Parts: sequence; structure tokens; C-alpha cells
Amino acid sequence: MKFFIDTGNLTQIKEANDLGILDGVTTNPSLMAQVGVKGEEAIAAHYKAICELVEGDISAEVLSTDFATMVEEGKKLAAIHKNIVVKVPMIKDGIKAIKWFTDNGIRTNCTLVFSAGQAILAAKAGATYVSPFIGRIDDSSWDGMELIGQIRHIYDVQGFQTQILAASIRNALHIVKAAEAGADVCTCPLDSILGLLKHPLTDIGLAKFLEDAKKM
Ligand code: E4P
Repeated sequence: MKFFIDTGNLTQIKEANDLGILDGVTTNPSLMAQVGVKGEEAIAAHYKAICELVEGDISAEVLSTDFATMVEEGKKLAAIHKNIVVKVPMIKDGIKAIKWFTDNGIRTNCTLVFSAGQAILAAKAGATYVSPFIGRIDDSSWDGMELIGQIRHIYDVQGFQTQILAASIRNALHIVKAAEAGADVCTCPLDSILGLLKHPLTDIGLAKFLEDAKKM
């Protein structure tokens, strides 16, 4: 399973990248707004900075919702760097745009996916990635991880090549469960990635080893 970080924060991206386990980055308009990036030029410069920091796929989301404007926006985003993946919302015009991008050699990430039906449409349109939002499904009393398993099954049975990108990850257990369910990628906040490191027995064991090392 590939590890992406889900943020627009360059310091956090660098920290995750320095671990040596980062395969890419996802952003969305909310995450970009959080780091204060405003205006077309600043947004493009920010994506470029991320691409220069991390060797891997970087999702950049279109801000429009009609086919023609999404295509124009996506072309501009894809021109920023070869690793940009155009992120497109799961709406009717979004599916049309994903198909257009697929036919024109531009890779896509179909975002805001909450059902297996939506994941089938994304794959049919040729999306490179499909992003089911685990945490937000859990928030509404459904089981987000069940959806990952269902999409995995459908894609395997049907031979769809679209990669399943588990998104809206809230904790380290989500990452473990996404791996178990067969996600191809997990995009996570830095805290959830670092949460994978934690185990009290590791801390106790290391303290004892360091204590005993003094007697060596
Ligand atoms: C996906 O790529 C989205 O950016 C993200 O995972 C959404 O997560 P949230 O539900 O924590 O906002």
C-alpha cells in the first residue's frame, strides 16, 4: 500500500517525506485554504513547491463544477508538473471530465466518493485513483472500511485498474484497516502516520534496553 499525506502544509509534508515512506500528497480546497494559499498564481506555486519536495503523485483539485471549465482548469494544473494528478469531484460533469482527461493522457483522482456505484462510474471513466471518504462515512454511522472492501472486490472481479485511495483517514487504526481491506493507497494526516509508531511496550522495552546498555 502506498502512503500519501493529506495536507497542503509544507512543513508536515517535509516531515513525512523525511521518514522515507511517502509516496505522494493529496490536497483539497479546504486544506489549501487552511495554509492560506489564495489566488491562481499562489495556488500553482504551492503545487509546484509540493512537487519539488516529494517524488510521487500530487493531487490538485479543480474548483469548478462544469465540464468545460473543469477541462480547462485540469489542463492548467497538469501543466504545472508531470506528477500532478487532477482531482475531480464525483458529479455528472466530473465523470465526463475524467473521461476526457483519460482520453488525453491526464491522470485523475475521483474525489468525494461514498458508494460502490460511484466507484464503478469512476473506474469506467478511467480514473487513475478513486477516493472513498472513510472518516466521513464513519461520521454518519456507516462503516467506511466496508466500502473499501466492497470496491476492492468489484474492481478485482471486473478487472478495473483504478487504484483505491482510502481518504478521510482519522487515525492509525484506519490505516491498518485500509491495508487489510486491500486499499492501494492511504492518504493520511501526519498525526495518523505518526500514530502507527506508537506502542507502550516499545517505549518500555527501549527504556529497559537503554538502562541495561549502561552495564555493557
Ligand atoms: C481526500 O483526498 C480528502 O482530501 C480528504 O481525505 C478529506 O478528509 P476529511 O474528511 O478529513 O476532510
